[in-house]
Amino acid sequence: MKKLVKDYKTIAVVCNQWGDTGKGKFVDFLGDWADIVARGTGGANAGHTICIGKDKYIFHLLPSGIIHDGKGTINIIGSGVAFDPRVTLEEIDIVKGHGLSYGNLMISQDAKLVLPIHLLIDRLKESRDKIGTTGRGIGPVYTDHVSRKGLIVKDMLNKDIFERKLRANIKDKLSILKGFKKEMIKEVLDHEHLLNGVFYDEENLLDIDKIIEVYSEYAEFFKNMIDDTDEFVRQNLGNKKLLLEGAQGLLLSVDYGGYPFVTSSDSSIEGLAKGVGLNKNDVDLTLGITKAFFMTRVGEGPFPTELGGLKSAEWCRTQVKTDEEKEYSHTTVNSEDEFEQGIGIRFAGSEYGATTGRPRRTGWLDLPVLKYATRINGPNLVLTKLDVLDDCNTIRLCTKYEYMGEDYNLGKKTLKKGDIIKTAYVDTDILKNCKPIYKDFPGWKSDTTNISEYEDLPQNLKDIIDYVEKECNVNVLIASVGPKRNQTIIR
Ligand code: IMP
Ligand code: MG
Repeated sequence: MKKLVKDYKTIAVVCNQWGDTGKGKFVDFLGDWADIVARGTGGANAGHTICIGKDKYIFHLLPSGIIHDGKGTINIIGSGVAFDPRVTLEEIDIVKGHGLSYGNLMISQDAKLVLPIHLLIDRLKESRDKIGTTGRGIGPVYTDHVSRKGLIVKDMLNKDIFERKLRANIKDKLSILKGFKKEMIKEVLDHEHLLNGVFYDEENLLDIDKIIEVYSEYAEFFKNMIDDTDEFVRQNLGNKKLLLEGAQGLLLSVDYGGYPFVTSSDSSIEGLAKGVGLNKNDVDLTLGITKAFFMTRVGEGPFPTELGGLKSAEWCRTQVKTDEEKEYSHTTVNSEDEFEQGIGIRFAGSEYGATTGRPRRTGWLDLPVLKYATRINGPNLVLTKLDVLDDCNTIRLCTKYEYMGEDYNLGKKTLKKGDIIKTAYVDTDILKNCKPIYKDFPGWKSDTTNISEYEDLPQNLKDIIDYVEKECNVNVLIASVGPKRNQTIIR
């Protein structure tokens, strides 16, 4: 670990793919090093799985450093985060239940405040737009922010301001609600995440007084944790060891991903730094977590290297884990049929959504998108889940695409059928027409889960890493061969 962190004071952990690459493990891994752990983007849509001994923790909103709270680590929910008090309370209960403390939790006074109306609209719109959102209100919260209608955490502490802004906000939303049947609104509000219907009002749809009541209870609970965290982070920059915890992945960034299948905050290093009050040049080391040599995606949107293509996308949209396990118990990472091989990899990697439980779509590592991602997140990579393909006979890397669509006018340039693309255009209408071109490598066919030195990794595996490094101009700093802290190989 020492050779990794050197003299660094500020380290960020972000994802170069569509999320779920194992950021939680690395935030936890660096948690021993850090004095402060801060989140800057996303909200309860994130799901970070952390294993400690036999215990598995899934956090959505609490920074993963919370499990180090006992040693005095400060955990920050930054100004860029969509803060949902209900979820945070629930997670604090889990933390307490494990005998851990949460005494050093700080919440930005400027974090975007998630309200019942946001969850309601997210879920109503999803029934129509089919983006595959996590239903946590993320799109509507950030929409409110940029449309100058949002509420922030400190509003909750000032009852009159809260009430005025809340009434204006909801009034503005009524035209959206009018597009949906009353029974449907009632049904959504009955969800446990919306406290089982307490906010429903027969006449006005939403009981604003009830929202005020519930949020003033939240305010009472959280008030001593709320502060100007941007200022706090800035003051400690260069003095304290600061760890920035990303959420989602670069390809889901609202600024860098492909509309409309993205989340609504900027999940790149830039968004993360901004969301804690810094800019990316303040960060000494950005670790771009990258699953290899397969990838996953949850929700809708193009995924060129998906094993089984559209059949897989459709399957993952409708399946639950237990049914899949029954029906496809015979599949492995070497199944002949691509669709089945995708399921085999899902089983081997336990690739099911931490927030939604959905099967994650699986496919091969895509270098054109990795090149794109590292232009923004930088060249330093952590390759995770390498052990998942220990038994695999052949590893396929997508090295480029062939464009298969109609002419696509890009201004000075026009994409034409048959064009070769080496760095991805992360645009839904382009990506969905890209056919991957693969280079095959022989698998290493041995157990890597107990290896601790880079030199001891199988040569076949190191050869593929060398290829990726050269092809994408990146440095692999860490290889991860299992979920545990000690299954981490620092180069
Ligand atoms: P939202 O963030 O809930 O609005 O969802 C928008 C898209 O981002 C959907 O495709 C989600 O599946 C995806 N998404 C959001 N959060 C995560 C995450 O933490 N991991 C992976 N995908 C995510
Ligand atoms: Mg996740």
